Amino acid sequence: MQIRRLAVLLSGAGSNFQAVLDATLRGDIDAEIVGVIADRPAKGLERAQNAGIPAHLVERGAPDFHVALSATLRELAPDGIVLAGFLSILPPDVTAAYKNRIINIHPSLIPSFCGMGFYGARVHQAVLDYGCKISGVTVHFVDEGTDTGPIILQQAMEVRSDDTVTELAARVLKIEHQLLPRAVALLCAGKLRVEGRRVFIDE
Ligand code: GRF
Repeated sequence: MQIRRLAVLLSGAGSNFQAVLDATLRGDIDAEIVGVIADRPAKGLERAQNAGIPAHLVERGAPDFHVALSATLRELAPDGIVLAGFLSILPPDVTAAYKNRIINIHPSLIPSFCGMGFYGARVHQAVLDYGCKISGVTVHFVDEGTDTGPIILQQAMEVRSDDTVTELAARVLKIEHQLLPRAVALLCAGKLRVEGRRVFIDE
């Protein structure tokens, strides 16, 4: 299936969304972002509004959160979904309907420091506490689990002995801004092939 219409889901500042948007505007990603959905009043919604992209707030605390999120996605009718720092669990009907068409970015080398409770600064704090010498970024397909789908791209980087969480997070974020648009571009170009847990890139 051709991926030409993307929905981006986010919970934070939206810098990863911005990186993907900029890549679509440059023509590096052959698709358009048809809408942005946030599960809280995130700064990323303002970025979408500034870019003239439909921005929807679907509050994670609402009792009908999953129903409302599924309905908003049906309204946007994307071919693919990008989780750009989205902190809620997707409705099972969405992960089932979009098998191998939902991409997530995680700020560590999965399967390290991922899963429930590992997000944002908590990831980098765990990396430093463990005394790791490398960390990095993972972009993966989303399945019904948390950070468990087939890995598309990864990039490692050095953890410096004097790194603070803030410094490590900033260097990791720079790599995220490169890796996520690259993975989305490959998805939209139909170059990703999944066999079991393995993702092959057909350049
Ligand atoms: C990033 O650190 C990403 O790894 C994590 O959430 C953060 C999102 O940052 N999933 P932003 O909202 O894209 O600026």
